Amino acid sequence: MRSHPRARRPAGAVSAAVLALASCGSDPSTLSPRGTGAREIAVLWWVMFALGTAVFALVVVLLVRVARHRRPHADEHRDDERSGHRWILWGGVVLPVVVVVPLSFLTLVIGERLADEPDGDAVEIEVIGNQFWWEVRYPGTDAVTANEIHIPVDREARITMTSADVVHSLWVPSLHGKVDLIPGEETEIVLDAVEAGTYEGLCAEFCGIQHTHMRLLVVAHPEDEFEEWLAREAGQARPPRTAEARAGGQVFDDVGCGSCHTVRGTDAVGQVGPDLTHIGSRLTLGANTIPNTRGHLGGWIANSQQIKPGNRMPPSVLEGPELIALLEYLEGLE
Ligand code: CUA
Repeated sequence: MRSHPRARRPAGAVSAAVLALASCGSDPSTLSPRGTGAREIAVLWWVMFALGTAVFALVVVLLVRVARHRRPHADEHRDDERSGHRWILWGGVVLPVVVVVPLSFLTLVIGERLADEPDGDAVEIEVIGNQFWWEVRYPGTDAVTANEIHIPVDREARITMTSADVVHSLWVPSLHGKVDLIPGEETEIVLDAVEAGTYEGLCAEFCGIQHTHMRLLVVAHPEDEFEEWLAREAGQARPPRTAEARAGGQVFDDVGCGSCHTVRGTDAVGQVGPDLTHIGSRLTLGANTIPNTRGHLGGWIANSQQIKPGNRMPPSVLEGPELIALLEYLEGLE
């Protein structure tokens, strides 16, 4: 798990090298499961791997034997024919049945368990897929965030999903399998994490030019920390505390950021891009494309098209001091 220093750096261009280093969270691997769903899937994977390996080894042994087999004499032909039929029976019928039947049974059992209803105390969360980011809502509260799903550790979360545009697919390999987000329909996945931590997820369905940069983080907190986070996230934006931040808030209004973004408690109520009410406390920007530091945020606002071409945010034409004030304002939205 990589840590996320929130260093204050001067605004500047973002190079491809920085982009390559920027993603955050544990390595997304199905083979290091940290959720109940992923553990079930990993069991199935290892069983399939073991059976596949055994069959492969058997085939190699047989191949070697055949290669070393001497050519039969004419009077041995009849025996060979009978043994050929035996091979077809054992290798073509018995072996596949012995391998496929238990595997199908195990797949059905595990598939059935993965489709179980969540526990009564499960956290309800809504996720809406957008090109190319994830909106995350907590029904019953005002909390809305983006590209981060916060859950309590050791407690299930029922994630109800849909899409605002095209088909996406939510996949957090360490926690569970993939489920599609489909426009006009609701799908569901039950996530849990058995260990507190940050887990990397991604979009697993090609959805356009920035599909690769449609990533997310699942942050599993101890219960009290989760409740604290949710209460803060549900609250309105903190008013700017410094003169520069107040000036930045004015820049935010003047250049029209609020026509695409919401900052709860202000006049900004746009619905096109992510809710920015608590942008200052997010771990990453651009759907886990770059870390949320002052330099990266400045680069993103100046021209996010250079970082993530094809996203819906236009480049800005701010003067240096305006940009710095705006950064001060946004970083204060914790
Ligand atoms: Cu969204 Cu791929």
